[in-house]
Amino acid sequence: MYSELTLLRAEIERDIALITDEDSLEQFKLKYLVKKGAIQGFIERLRDVPKEHKPSVGKEINALRSLAENFYDERKTSYDERRKAHVELIDVSLPGRRCTPLGSIHPIQQTLDRCITIFERMGFSVAEGPDVENDYYNFGALNFAPDHPARDMQDTFFVRSEKADDILLRTHTSSVQIRVMKSQKPPIRSIMPGRVYRNETVSARSLAEFHQLEGLYIDRNVTFAELKGTIISFAKEMYGGNSKFRFRPSYFPFTEPSAEVDISCYLCNGKGCRICKYSGWLEICGCGMVHPNVLKNCDIDPEEFSGYAFGFGIERVTLLRTGIDDIRLLYENDVRLLNQFR
Ligand code: DAH
Repeated sequence: MYSELTLLRAEIERDIALITDEDSLEQFKLKYLVKKGAIQGFIERLRDVPKEHKPSVGKEINALRSLAENFYDERKTSYDERRKAHVELIDVSLPGRRCTPLGSIHPIQQTLDRCITIFERMGFSVAEGPDVENDYYNFGALNFAPDHPARDMQDTFFVRSEKADDILLRTHTSSVQIRVMKSQKPPIRSIMPGRVYRNETVSARSLAEFHQLEGLYIDRNVTFAELKGTIISFAKEMYGGNSKFRFRPSYFPFTEPSAEVDISCYLCNGKGCRICKYSGWLEICGCGMVHPNVLKNCDIDPEEFSGYAFGFGIERVTLLRTGIDDIRLLYENDVRLLNQFR
């Protein structure tokens, strides 16, 4: 019996080493610790052990039972605790996890996107040109006389270059008109959004770097009435259907006739207030019929084709749309401001 008990101890120890999970632990219990288990079998056979050996054999059987029981209890407690801890990790009463805060589209980009959507619906496609231009595209081809004051150093940022002395940052998106007319044949119906640069003092009303959106339509028999219709339809969608409009005669070298468009002030409905400087009107864009010289510069025959063009500042539209009263706020990127226009 002694040798059997020695074998049993070895077997218990080997089985203990093999236990890796709750299933194998339960198998261990069934093998050694239940009524019909291996240890109970030895206890029953104790009856037949000669009297003088009973104490020592009994002692060994007890030791083996304690070994198996203690191991089982300890490992069971540890598995139970592990399971409990895992369950406690998922506290279903907690509020859901906050997502990473999302950014939002900047008010200037929102304005651009809205303008583009409205004009695309009218059949205009989007064209782009470079920010760094030369005198020809920005002024010359647009019929600016060589001594036009807009070429003055005070308005234009010139770029120092060894190769040419007429490189500049475009002062308006009208330069893209020339690029579009030189690369496409009429009919042309394009809008040209983009950044422009002017050597101006930064204030609540003006910046040295801002955005414009240019429009150009060239085809046979295009009339001023179509220009008016396009601008009024756009502005009604952008600013609301009840606005009134007026076209004032104006001058731009690249259009003839030229006009500036005013919309009745959205704040006071034309009665006069601080925003419209008590005039009842807000200027929204410059426009006109494309000058024959400009068409000729782009190899388009002014006898056959005519067209209109318009251009306006995106920041200004953004101020009117949002009620923000200082243009510089649009470039400070203060989230307290941006969050109001998500
Ligand atoms: N380029 C002009 C400016 O920057 C705006 C403008 C006026 C664009 C009349 C045009 C136009 O296309 O026809 O002030």
